[in-house]
Amino acid sequence: MIEFRSVTKQFPDGTVAVENFDLVIPPRKTTVLVGSSGCGKTTLLRMINRMIDPTSGAILIDGEDTSSLEPVKLRRRIGYVMQNSGLLPHRKVIDNVATVPVLNGVAKRDARAHALELLDTVGLDRSLADKYPRQLSGGQQQRVGVARGLAADPNILLMDEPFGAVDPIVRAELQQETIRLQEGLGKTVVFVTHDIDEAFLLGHQVVILQKGGHIAQVGTPAEILAEPADDFVASFVGADKGKRKLRIEKVGGRDIVVDEAGTPTGVLQS
Ligand SMILES: Nc1ncnc2c1ncn2[C@@H]1O[C@H](COP(=O)(O)OP(=O)(O)OP(=O)(O)O)[C@@H](O)[C@H]1O
Ligand SMILES: [Mg+2]
Repeated sequence: MIEFRSVTKQFPDGTVAVENFDLVIPPRKTTVLVGSSGCGKTTLLRMINRMIDPTSGAILIDGEDTSSLEPVKLRRRIGYVMQNSGLLPHRKVIDNVATVPVLNGVAKRDARAHALELLDTVGLDRSLADKYPRQLSGGQQQRVGVARGLAADPNILLMDEPFGAVDPIVRAELQQETIRLQEGLGKTVVFVTHDIDEAFLLGHQVVILQKGGHIAQVGTPAEILAEPADDFVASFVGADKGKRKLRIEKVGGRDIVVDEAGTPTGVLQS
């Protein structure tokens, strides 16, 4: 479990990126932080592994205050997948994946053997191991980024808009892989996106943020859709329009669900 207790982050230039933020992130589930650009998502994520330290308040991991933990050690036991994969360009794929375990003291041979297994895990062919990041497609690079995040077998995986730079088809594939990995490995995933559809797809818990890291609503996707906390949330999730505004039409005795434009999207089951 990760717990934010009244966390505030003010940067040296005076910008208050996050103010009085409280949140409990349950273990072995995916929590998605979603909100517009600049609302504080990356700042929140980076405070979990102490790439950024809060100005006030506390962050606890399994009851332990992270301020009492050594940042470098903490970072090595929390996986972090960056936007645009963040791979080291001058290192081969396999060494990108094996970097953190080697820093943790795992023998290079063992780390490389494990890295090959991780390529399987994320759906990459082992023949890519000796290539350099620039020789891979954007989607392949993202997969390497995920493999690297998993390399130290962390309980917690932080993912910051990891699929922002790939095309919609690859993105959909990567989203499904993320769901499969999270379920299969039982990781606690904290995922950042500005895309509400991605948030609803991946999140067991979805946190809708406004500027300053102010929480507009926390809940399951169903709870948020059923009862948006206010007009901001209703508009942000698009509850009142397009493919979310569904109604039922009777056709031949069956209940057909249609969207706002009247396009059939499915059959209502009893
Ligand atoms: N090092 C910094 N110094 C000063 N201000 C910063 C710094 N890093 C972030 N900020 C500011 O803090 C606020 C939150 O930034 P943050 O990067 O957390 O937003 P975000 O939600 O991740 O945005 P995006 O979706 O664009 O990535 C923004 O106003 C940003 O300009
Ligand atoms: Mg960001």
